[in-house]
Amino acid sequence: MTLLEAVDIRMFYGSVCALDGVTLRIGRGEFVSIIGPNGAGKTTLVNVLTGLLAPTSGTVRFKGEDVGGVGPVRLARLGMARAFQLVNVFPALTVGETIAVAVLARLGRGARLFAALAGERRVWDEVRSVAELFGLGDTLARPARTLPQGDKKLLDVASAFALHPEVILLDEPTSGVSTADKHAIMEVLVQAAARLGIHSIIQVEHDMDIVFGYSDRIVALHQGRVLADGRPAELQANDAVMATVVGRAHA
Ligand SMILES: Nc1ncnc2c1ncn2[C@@H]1O[C@H](COP(=O)(O)OP(=O)(O)O)[C@@H](O)[C@H]1O
Ligand SMILES: [Mg+2]
Repeated sequence: MTLLEAVDIRMFYGSVCALDGVTLRIGRGEFVSIIGPNGAGKTTLVNVLTGLLAPTSGTVRFKGEDVGGVGPVRLARLGMARAFQLVNVFPALTVGETIAVAVLARLGRGARLFAALAGERRVWDEVRSVAELFGLGDTLARPARTLPQGDKKLLDVASAFALHPEVILLDEPTSGVSTADKHAIMEVLVQAAARLGIHSIIQVEHDMDIVFGYSDRIVALHQGRVLADGRPAELQANDAVMATVVGRAHA
């Protein structure tokens, strides 16, 4: 069953064509990686899929509803969330407060925020259980900026997961962390998704070990077009695609 569908998406920035007729369907339960060289249109595609950018033409549907340009708040209510690198936005908040922002948003209680939160058992119980899923249970009172880089990444992802979306989009969840930490992050992420009932994960990722190790499907973009869309084994067997998209160093 198709959860998220983009049909013939074109996106121009002035005269620059960033997406040139992209069609993509993502089903329930799929872990899809979007790959491609710099400038291929990956970030633009994620921004269009998450309603942050309205495409110049084409349609984006989530669970059958047209969501082109509707914005992240409305999309989160419908059941799609993305990691937003909140750790950079709220460096002074504690780990607990950072996740609480997402929990509050989910409960429609953002306006009252922290002052009224001391006695809010339901919010803090949920904050604790999400934090524990990501191994952050002992860090709730720490300022987010004091976390090691790998834990900052997990906090970013945890905040998006706290929205209990059906589909989650992650822009390079493992960038800037060591190879060993990358696999640890992905293991935690996949297990947390299963525990929280998140159906589909879409990630932009550069690390090909991660891409080929965790994806059910890989979508390769090149110059704003879908160059390949298939199972990891299918892409790996295609030398031309591997050379273009992954680059010589990895081909
Ligand atoms: N805000 C913008 N204004 C103008 N051009 C942009 C903007 N964002 C991206 N581009 C251009 O669109 C193309 C795709 O960019 P992007 O989606 O960031 O690719 P990727 O994430 O794959 O590196 C590139 O040519 C880039 O220079
Ligand atoms: Mg990008």
